[in-house]
Amino acid sequence: MPSSPLQNAGLALISCVLYYLLRLRSRKLPLPPGPKGLPLLGNIYDVPEKQSWLAFLEMTKKYDSDIISLNLMGTTVVVLNSAASIQALLEDKSMIYSSRPPFPMVNDLVGYHWNFGFMPYGPKWKQYRKTLVQQFQPSQMHFHRPLQLKAARVLLQRLLETPAKFEKHLRHMAAGSDTTVSVLNSFILAMTLYPEIQEKAQAAVDHAVGQGRLPDFNDSIPYLDAVLREVLRWRPVVPLAIPHAVTEDDVYNGYYIPRGAVVLGNSWAVLHDEAIYGSTAGEFIPERWLNKDGEINTAMREPSAAFGFGRRSCPGREMAQWSVWICAASILAAFTISKSVDEKGSDP
Ligand code: HEM
Repeated sequence: MPSSPLQNAGLALISCVLYYLLRLRSRKLPLPPGPKGLPLLGNIYDVPEKQSWLAFLEMTKKYDSDIISLNLMGTTVVVLNSAASIQALLEDKSMIYSSRPPFPMVNDLVGYHWNFGFMPYGPKWKQYRKTLVQQFQPSQMHFHRPLQLKAARVLLQRLLETPAKFEKHLRHMAAGSDTTVSVLNSFILAMTLYPEIQEKAQAAVDHAVGQGRLPDFNDSIPYLDAVLREVLRWRPVVPLAIPHAVTEDDVYNGYYIPRGAVVLGNSWAVLHDEAIYGSTAGEFIPERWLNKDGEINTAMREPSAAFGFGRRSCPGREMAQWSVWICAASILAAFTISKSVDEKGSDP
């Protein structure tokens, strides 16, 4: 028997009421705290365009919660500002925290694009990721090394010809990805700002490599390893990783995290956490990674947060770290990095 328009309207009304009742039940818990937003626009004016990770960290202090939330034009964005909350959600519950939000808003927020990196969680992403992980796992590094070594040697040649164009040279060959180039740029910045650390690093390279040849992958240079860990920690190149999206409703510390929320792990906050790195967290101190024998202190957790979290963490990590390593070792062996000066010897 066909239903009447009245019956249809009644059914629709009941469904609406049920839907709102169910929503109310799960929403009994509050969202994580955060600034009060404007109608419709939400908190878009509370997120600065530059260094938003620092603003998020301030909010954590202000609201006394390591997890905060914002409303960006109707999308709930949850920011995790501590190692503990990142571990509990992005790592331990990676089954539901490994999707990606749709693109447009995300690109505005973090200014970062990556096709495969932005695929939602699912069979297609899994398949791509598996292939990539296989290609770049530690046991496959010997395939990439000859090319990485060659790129580092070409880099030295170019730097010798036109040292001031170092950024262009890094971009063109040595690195292979924007992120790797950024790490090498931060390395060069650190060596310029801390000449005494550069001297130590050069001495370590000379000691390991000796005279008459350039560094290769067989050289063990713990002080350089420490310098590069510190570069990743001091200036993480993707300070909020790539945004994750949660695929189920969840609860953390009594706060409601709605399905579909964008979840940002604040790598900067983890890598500058004074509880781990002390009051010198903002300074560049490679020695913090070494034990008293000058070897890498294995009790210190690696700066993995620089490579993101859980099932979405960077699959190119091993490869990228070796590219950076061979370039940095080669540069230190061949050159001394300093500020450029004009003919009169002053800072241009
Ligand atoms: C030192 C250089 C690099 C750094 C610091 C870096 C960092 C990151 C970070 C923070 C993420 C986001 C992880 C997350 O969402 O939690 C990421 C993802 C990714 N990285 Fe890297 N990366 C570097 C180099 C590379 C290289 C050389 C490759 C390619 C060989 C690569 C391939 C990828 C891919 C494909 C993703 C997306 C993974 C996914 O969505 O499942 N990365 N990287």
